[in-house]
Amino acid sequence: MEIISDSGAMQEQARAWRTEGRTIAFVPTMGYFHQGHLSLMRYGREQGRRLVVSLFVNPAQFGPSEDLDRYPRDLERDAGLAAAEGVDVLFTPTAGDMYPSGYQTYVEVGELSRGLCGASRPGHFRGVATVVLKLFNLAAPDVAVFGEKDYQQLRVIQQMAADLNLPVRVVGRPIVREPDGLALSSRNTYLSIEERRAALSLIQGLNAAAARAAGGERRAEALLGAARAVITASPLVRLDYLELADPDTLKPVERLQGAARLLTAAWVGATRLIDNILIEGD
Ligand code: PAJ
Repeated sequence: MEIISDSGAMQEQARAWRTEGRTIAFVPTMGYFHQGHLSLMRYGREQGRRLVVSLFVNPAQFGPSEDLDRYPRDLERDAGLAAAEGVDVLFTPTAGDMYPSGYQTYVEVGELSRGLCGASRPGHFRGVATVVLKLFNLAAPDVAVFGEKDYQQLRVIQQMAADLNLPVRVVGRPIVREPDGLALSSRNTYLSIEERRAALSLIQGLNAAAARAAGGERRAEALLGAARAVITASPLVRLDYLELADPDTLKPVERLQGAARLLTAAWVGATRLIDNILIEGD
């Protein structure tokens, strides 16, 4: 595995592979790898593609009071894990390379960026879309792999790729969870033992709603009520949002018809966690 930090060198490598007729898979990350990240790499690795993984804690997607400075980092460990997955290039640009002084161009995906995480993190998806488009231009992927863990992010990137005619297929992959159901996240390392226990209420709440839906309940308010009761039961948890949404537009639905996504974000102590599940309708 090669570690490339220079964006020009990354672009050169991608161009050389393309000239040889190679296809390129790309997994963008902010590092501190867990099995969720590794599952995306494994998927990217399939079918003999070259595999590029980027590791960049993107300042443009963090708000002023968010955790940019304390976001967990361990390049040595991450490089070992990536190499073991058969990654060809670990791309680790610097902030100065990605956003040199005088930088002034941003990508905004409209409607999809507004609700859910976009409402509580203004500018977040603008930062995500911008960095992902830049990374696509450097790694020149045929396929880019994202986790459904950040479901709104996946939809925002798919919309950007469609709207801007990007020559890349944006694939979403299932959420990898701990044995007890907690969605893996680099931010789980912030949790104390009590908070870790309380954090389980997110998936338990989502599952409670799924159980009601499986039992025939179709009213969104009833499904949301079932989830909310479980999620807010712990005094350590403060709900940010809970919504039943159309899986494509992410607009709220009032009745479950086809499939819908049930999405939540909650503060567990000082840590903001997100999770979502697919809810099957008729
Ligand atoms: P990061 O949070 O590091 O996540 C990188 C990728 O891993 C994302 O596509 C995310 O959805 C996926 N992922 C995280 N936890 C997962 C889990 N438990 N199961 C499956 N996939 C999981 O998302 C970002 O970085 C950034 O916003 C980025 C896209 C890199 C742009 O800066």
